[in-house]
Amino acid sequence: MGKTIIISNRLPVQLQIDNGEITAIPSVGGLATGMKSVHSGGDSLWIGWSGLTDEEIPDRLAPKIDKALAKHGSSKVNLTESEIDGYYYGFSNRTIWPLFHYFLEYSEFESEYWEAYKKVNQKFADAILEKADDGDTIWVHDYQLMLVPQMVREKKPDISIGFFLHIPFPSFEIFRTLPWREEILNGLLGSDLIGFHTYDYERHFLSSVRRLLGLEVSFNDISLDDRVIKVDSFPMGIDYKKFSEAAKKHNQNKEKDKSELQKRLDTHKKSAPDAKFFLSIDRLDYSKGIAKRIYAFEYFLNKYPQYKEKVRLIVLAVPSRSNVPQYQLLKREVDELVGRINGEFSTVSWTPIWYFYRSMPFENLIDLYTSSDIAWLTPLRDGMNLVAKEYIATRTDQTGVLILSEMAGSANEMNESLLINPNNFEQIADALHTAINMPVEEQKQRNAILQKRLERYNVEKWANDFMNSLLDQKEKDYSYVAR
Ligand code: ADP
Ligand code: G6P
Repeated sequence: MGKTIIISNRLPVQLQIDNGEITAIPSVGGLATGMKSVHSGGDSLWIGWSGLTDEEIPDRLAPKIDKALAKHGSSKVNLTESEIDGYYYGFSNRTIWPLFHYFLEYSEFESEYWEAYKKVNQKFADAILEKADDGDTIWVHDYQLMLVPQMVREKKPDISIGFFLHIPFPSFEIFRTLPWREEILNGLLGSDLIGFHTYDYERHFLSSVRRLLGLEVSFNDISLDDRVIKVDSFPMGIDYKKFSEAAKKHNQNKEKDKSELQKRLDTHKKSAPDAKFFLSIDRLDYSKGIAKRIYAFEYFLNKYPQYKEKVRLIVLAVPSRSNVPQYQLLKREVDELVGRINGEFSTVSWTPIWYFYRSMPFENLIDLYTSSDIAWLTPLRDGMNLVAKEYIATRTDQTGVLILSEMAGSANEMNESLLINPNNFEQIADALHTAINMPVEEQKQRNAILQKRLERYNVEKWANDFMNSLLDQKEKDYSYVAR
């Protein structure tokens, strides 16, 4: 059995150079946090971008960079600033990301971006080919690298290739608008197995393959030349134990071991024991519905004025893709909204919204998860949303209420939460009211079911299911297809 090569744009860590010193910061985002647990437990090599462009790496530091990555079982693909502009900020995040999240009006169809995307995908494919031996398994991740499976297949026809998409696959009516739609589908079809978070995304993909390429699709098998490609859904889980154990440990902390953030949270709890904390954590991304959530909070305070001074919304937004204009606009919108609403509703003893625009260390995430009575996540579209799962895993006494958008992939597995349509303010305000008043017994009943499910379908099971399915696919005899 050969090794597994994981390929994604982001590596588990991002490198930075400060005053000539290299520092590695954990990457944020569902792909990196999820795959990190899989990678640390097995014999795999992870190939990706270090976070630094070629221009940012002085020659004398190049060997040190390779060493720093090797510590994380990783190896880098070298990318220039202009490649990152065209492939990452361009085609990946100004064309595909908005389109696949149904923000059609944000999606830019620029042939320059497309050319950069092809070129960089080829670089990733070459990096794989350089490291791969026969018998290895290649696992390609996400929308930045959709051409890679075909590029590797051309050179190594017998190698086992799996692809997993971490974002939604849109309906045919949306996908068909992409000028390079056939190329993207053919790129993906270089795989033996293509995985999605949900059955809906899988269905949308199969429909596009049938209607745009006219290929034969039988159940979830696609026939192409002498190969059969399997398509299936694998809802990604979390490292449940890591979160539940961190929460248990956190809850036993003595005063002296507590973080500054936790001490501040405790002080507020003590001064108003009946007050409730609402928590939202996301990358600052328009798909997450952050601005709408803040408008909905305003709507809630007006509809239920009895909760003024009794609730507080914590908005933790992680800086993301800040070179893309839509993200800059969103940052401005959220800054202004928070300012306006705090200005309108604050009293001498109460600020309704606490807004943090930064990444936080794991310990602080646990502080927030364990201290918040209600997690409130309202993506307008989200491939999965792992934050919802992480919140539930940290609720060791099984109290707490999750309010979750039905547009998140995770909503399919989290029916016991309060599911809402993020565009329906009336329904959201009522869900917040219900959550505040939910009896503890009911909270525990709901969370007990959720926790059992999340513990069983954890990230390890997700990765094993995917890899086993890929292995099965490779072992099947499809010689009849060629006849
Ligand atoms: P996405 O992949 O779109 O960013 P997910 O909810 O699936 O959304 O995954 C986000 C991941 O990033 C989670 O694992 C979460 O713990 C992590 N994360 C979110 N916010 C922060 C933060 N401020 N600091 C560190 N990690 C964060
Ligand atoms: C989502 C995507 C990942 C991406 C992450 C963070 O989870 O599916 O591929 O890595 O967001 O975004 P970034 O652009 O910073 O890598």
